[in-house]
Amino acid sequence: MLFGRDRVGNKLHMAATTMVAIGTFVSATWILSVNSWMQTPAGYVINENGQFMPDDWLAIIFNPSFLYRLVHMVLAAYLTVAFVVGAVSALHLLRDRTDPESRRSFSMAMWTAVLFAPLQMLAGDQHGLNTLEHQPIKVAAMEGHFEHHSSGNQPLALFGIPNTTDGRLDYAIEIPYLASLILTHTLHDQIRGLNEFPKTEWPPVAIVFFSFRVMVAVGMAMLALAPVSAWARYRLRLFDWPWLLRAAVVMGPSGFIAVLAGWITTKVGRQPYTVYELLRTSESLAPVKAPAVAASLIAFIVVYFFVLGAGTVYILRLMNHRPSTP
Ligand code: HEM
Repeated sequence: MLFGRDRVGNKLHMAATTMVAIGTFVSATWILSVNSWMQTPAGYVINENGQFMPDDWLAIIFNPSFLYRLVHMVLAAYLTVAFVVGAVSALHLLRDRTDPESRRSFSMAMWTAVLFAPLQMLAGDQHGLNTLEHQPIKVAAMEGHFEHHSSGNQPLALFGIPNTTDGRLDYAIEIPYLASLILTHTLHDQIRGLNEFPKTEWPPVAIVFFSFRVMVAVGMAMLALAPVSAWARYRLRLFDWPWLLRAAVVMGPSGFIAVLAGWITTKVGRQPYTVYELLRTSESLAPVKAPAVAASLIAFIVVYFFVLGAGTVYILRLMNHRPSTP
């Protein structure tokens, strides 16, 4: 039972957490709307000076890939936090399995994983279908599809080394039919390969191919841990299996890795365009001299390394303390 200061503290804590969750969602909405517009531009006209002008704000904000990206990114953010919280609590549970705060936060983190990891797979699948509709070249690069399979039956490449000179995937390890099944939800629908498109339209294939695999592999690892934790909970052993706790510690940075890999897939996959099929990256250069670019780049690197370094040390120190209620 909570009394006086504890109860007020709890309410304040709940209010702050709710505000942060809403704030994150609002901020993510606008950032993803802008990013999606660069991938699937809509609601604009181009004036006589070649500038993009808004024509329909609703079409701009709710452009064709916006909702897919918003859902995928918000789930990614929740999963990232869940796995960090899970790792910190697991670390403390490995030191003391009876600690009530660590037990509570580990339990919450694993509930989040159980709920959101499968949802993220579903969202990723739908996102992929949307990308196939609007950016088939990007999907071909993500999948490492060079050849067009006229009868459908597109295999899924688990691994391979994209060979852009000869237009094929070297050392491919493939599962027959699976790409057709995932990308068209049928066994025989056709998917266009990279060789169907001019090379000048290809993104850097290897980067997109490998970053996509990193994201999906991490997603699969999250999906694997979630049911194990559910099984452990069902057996009333959630806090008692050291290898589960160790796995949770190892998975601590997984969300960050998947998010970075996801953004690399998305942004590098958009190349050679800044605004997809409308403005090439080579045309969107500003008339700024190289020394000015170099100076601001160095300033960014120094400041970011300082902020990142200080932030990392601070967060690692915080993680070393046991979770506690406010
Ligand atoms: C089976 C699992 C997954 C699938 C099938 C999947 C699918 C996709 C697809 C198709 C894209 C978009 C590429 C584009 O159109 O530009 C994407 C991007 C992205 N993914 Fe995933 N994803 C999966 C797992 C994850 C996980 C676990 C995370 C993070 C926790 C994640 C984070 C992201 C991010 C941050 C982006 C870039 C933003 C965006 O375009 O939505 N993904 N993913």
